Amino acid sequence: MTAKLPVVIMGAGLVAGAVVLAAGNVADEGSMPDAKVIAQGRAIYEAQCAACHGAELEGQPDWRSPLPSGRLPAPPHDASGHTWHHPDEVLFRIVKEGTAAVVGGGYESDMPGFGDVLTDAEIRAVLAYIKSTWPERERSYQERVSVAD
Ligand code: HEC
Repeated sequence: MTAKLPVVIMGAGLVAGAVVLAAGNVADEGSMPDAKVIAQGRAIYEAQCAACHGAELEGQPDWRSPLPSGRLPAPPHDASGHTWHHPDEVLFRIVKEGTAAVVGGGYESDMPGFGDVLTDAEIRAVLAYIKSTWPERERSYQERVSVAD
């Protein structure tokens, strides 16, 4: 009887370890937020972003060609754009500070910073919504560049 005890304790330790690992994985799953966050992000997108980036995330027409002002039009956020090429950190900073601040060097951009309008959590929610619309290929690519960042 007593000989079995260490085995039982070790078993319990393994189970506890597995639970901790599983919990860690859930916490890392930043790309899979719950439906509530995505719905909140969608509402923010419609109120703050859709006017430029389009109701269907399609961007402005001919978005690759500079406007007469020399600035770029708003690109799409769907799979046809390049939002999914950027890691989380860069996307967050673009939305919070605006593209001009992130690029620096006197770069001029019509993408405003939303740091005074949206909280950090709201910025993450709107990005979560945008990501939730991407097909698997774009989503996993963006996840990989975010981890590498
Ligand atoms: C006044 C128009 C306007 C509004 C409103 C706007 N954007 Fe933009 N956004 C732009 C433009 C223009 C660019 C391209 C800037 C550049 O490259 O110089 C851009 C670029 C971006 C990029 C970088 C995309 C890439 O592929 O490099 C992200 C991310 C972004 N916007 C997110 C948002 C989000 C999220 C919102 C709403 C909270 C928003 N934008 C609201 C005009 C706008």
